[in-house]
Amino acid sequence: TTGVTTLDPGFVNTASCVSSITFIDGDKGVLQYRGYPIEQLAEKATFIEVAYLLIYGELPTQAQLDEFNGKIARRMLLDERMRELFRAFPRGAHPMQVLAAGVTALGSFNRDTLDVHDEGQVEEASLRLLGSMPTLAAYAYKSSIGAPFLYPRNNLGYVENYLRLSFGTPQEEYEIDPDVVRAFETLFILHADHEQNASTSTVRLVGSADANIYASMASGVHALSGPLHGGANQAVLEMLREISKEGLDIKDFVSQVKDKKSGVKLMGFGHRVYKNYDPRAKIIKGHADQLLRNSGTSNHLLEMALELEETALNDEYFIERKLYPNVDFYTGLIYEAMGFPAQHFTALFALGRLPGWIAQWREQHAEKGRKIGRPRQIYIGATERDYVPINER
Ligand code: SDX
Repeated sequence: TTGVTTLDPGFVNTASCVSSITFIDGDKGVLQYRGYPIEQLAEKATFIEVAYLLIYGELPTQAQLDEFNGKIARRMLLDERMRELFRAFPRGAHPMQVLAAGVTALGSFNRDTLDVHDEGQVEEASLRLLGSMPTLAAYAYKSSIGAPFLYPRNNLGYVENYLRLSFGTPQEEYEIDPDVVRAFETLFILHADHEQNASTSTVRLVGSADANIYASMASGVHALSGPLHGGANQAVLEMLREISKEGLDIKDFVSQVKDKKSGVKLMGFGHRVYKNYDPRAKIIKGHADQLLRNSGTSNHLLEMALELEETALNDEYFIERKLYPNVDFYTGLIYEAMGFPAQHFTALFALGRLPGWIAQWREQHAEKGRKIGRPRQIYIGATERDYVPINER
C-alpha cells in the first residue's frame, strides 16, 4: 500500500529503521507525509493540522484540530523563570545554541513529563514541546536584539502567535498579514519531516537510550544547526551576500565551486537522497518569487539565486552529479523578506521540524522490543601490538 514495492538488499542494509511516517523517492522527487503528497499539504493544510497527521497518523477532524490547537496554544506560556535563561546569553549568541539550551531546560521545568514509558507523560510532553518551541524561538530572537518579550495569546493560531511574539512590541499591536501567515504555514509544513535525515536520526538515537524527550529534541536542534544540514539556509543567504559584496560574476562563482581546491560549495544545492529537484524547493521558489515580486522591491538576491540555479542546472558538473536546489536554497530569501536576520533562519527550520522529530521519536518508542541504537564500524586501525615503555619510544 506504500510507494515502496521492492527493496534491493543494499538499501535494506543501510536502512536505519522501519517507519510509516514519511516516504521519499529521491529519483522522482517525491515526498509524502503519511501518504499525502507534500504539494497538497503545503497549499491546503495548516502546520498544526500536518503536525497532528505526522504524530497521530491521520488528518484530524475539525473538532480534533480545534482541540489540538487549543491544547498547544495554552502551553505556549513558559515558566517565568525560563525568561532569565535568555538573559544569561551574550547578545551575539547563535539562536540555535539558545534554542537548544531552552529545549534542554524544558526538561527541568517539566519534570512531571520525563517518564518515556508513560504514554500520558509522553503525550503531555509532546504538547508542551509544540507549545514552547515558538515562544523559545521568538525569545531567542528578541533577546538577540535586546527587545522586550511579549506573552502568547490563547486566541491566536500557532503561526500568528509566533509572528506576534517575534515582531510585536509592547508599544503597539502587531498587525497580522494573512499572506505572511499563509507563507509560514507552507514553509513550516515543508520542513515538518524528512525521514531519517541527520537531525531526525540523532533524535532517534538519543531517544533509543531512554533519554527524556526534551533531551532528544535538544540533540536534534544541535544536529540541525550544522551548515551541511539545517544551517544551510543561513549559509545560502551569506553566500549570496558575499557574491554581491565582492561583485562576483555568477559564472566566475560557479567556476570557483567546480574547482575542488577552492573548497567552495554551492550552498542550498545537492542532497543525499534527492537526485532530482527537491519538491520542497520547487514550492518555496514559487512563494519566494510571488512574495518578493509583490513586495515591489526588486530583490537583487532573488535575481542572483535564480541566475545561479539557471547556470548550475545547465552545467555538466552539476548535471553529472545530479545536484539540484534543495529545501534551503530559496527559504532564506523569504525569511529575510519577513524581517528575520540570517542567523535566525535555522531556528525557523527547527520550529518546522519539531513535529517530525516528535512523531519519529514516538514511533520508535512504540516499537515492541525496541533496543538502544548501536551503529557498528569497519575497523581499519593498527593490528594488536605490545605496550612500549616511554623511555624506549
Ligand atoms: C538538508 O538529509 C536530509 O533530508 C536533509 C534535509 C532535511 O529536510 O532534513 O533535506 C535538509 O540538510 C538539505 C541539505 C542542506 N545542505 C546544503 O545545501 C549544503 C550544501 N550541500 C552539500 O554539502 C551536499 O550536497 C549535501 C551535504 C547536502 C549532501 O552531501 P552528499 O550526499 O554527501 O554528497 P557528496 O558530498 O557525496 O557529493 C557528491 C558530489 C561530490 O563531488 P565529487 O567528489 O563526486 O567530485 O557532489 C559534489 C561533491 O563535492 N557536491 C557539491 C555540492 N554538493 C555535493 N559540489 C558543490 N556544491 C554542492 N552544494
